[in-house]
Amino acid sequence: MDDRPIGIFDSGLGGLTAVRALVAAAPWESFIYLGDTAHAPYGDRTPPELAVLARQNVRFLRERGVKALLVACNTSTANSMQVMLADNPDLPITGVIEPAAGAAVSATESGRIGLMATAATVASGAYERAIRRLDPRAAVTAAACPKLVPLVEAGRVSPEDPELAAAVEEYAAPLLAAAVDTVILGCTHYPIIRAAVRRAVGPDVTLIDSGAASVGALLRLLERRGALGDTAKTGGRRFYCSAGRDTFVDVGSAFLGWDMSAQTELTTL
Ligand code: DGL
Repeated sequence: MDDRPIGIFDSGLGGLTAVRALVAAAPWESFIYLGDTAHAPYGDRTPPELAVLARQNVRFLRERGVKALLVACNTSTANSMQVMLADNPDLPITGVIEPAAGAAVSATESGRIGLMATAATVASGAYERAIRRLDPRAAVTAAACPKLVPLVEAGRVSPEDPELAAAVEEYAAPLLAAAVDTVILGCTHYPIIRAAVRRAVGPDVTLIDSGAASVGALLRLLERRGALGDTAKTGGRRFYCSAGRDTFVDVGSAFLGWDMSAQTELTTL
């Protein structure tokens, strides 16, 4: 048993989609969450820039004594996983891409899978590689969606928001044209605007939540190492963001369903 917290990071609010799934699946686990809002969006950055930010985030969490790392950011998983693994051979690390690719391959019937993700995730080709390893016949149609993270970070998450609705429709169009039956929400921010995505893709497409998919993989990894927390306890919850604390707390609390204000601190990285 290991009662130290799990470290979780994202560029901002997106990783809270993994947090919500973690709290539902393993309420006894403590966690420290870092939303690097000062440097969001990550999705328009280059691989070298992303490596610097990933290292910074891991250092911040390691300094606070985490037992494992959940990279709740597709962009960092796609571009910086090798760097994080090489730097931290002693730390169990789970990303979001392998688990989400696995969930998509299990869900699809037609083998036609859509991917909505940031430009940096799409450019990395990480999802195509992960999906092909599992099912070489699967066809992936990807859409880079650069307008979505800034809208979410600004708190514009309602499906009634005209700019959000138009952007989601624009990005969903090539996926629908390719007749996909499954769409990977390949950016952890997107489940926060799931209602807008659902409206754009219609009722019959299966949506895969990459943040939620990663939680099962993380818990299995901890279990294999005998590092799960004490299941009789309620885990501690601590949030940090590096800019815009008010919006982070408002949008985050609405998404998580509890007031995270007293648990959230503004930090400099
Ligand atoms: N939520 C992150 C992801 O899963 C990062 C999005 C961004 O900052 O562009 O890719």
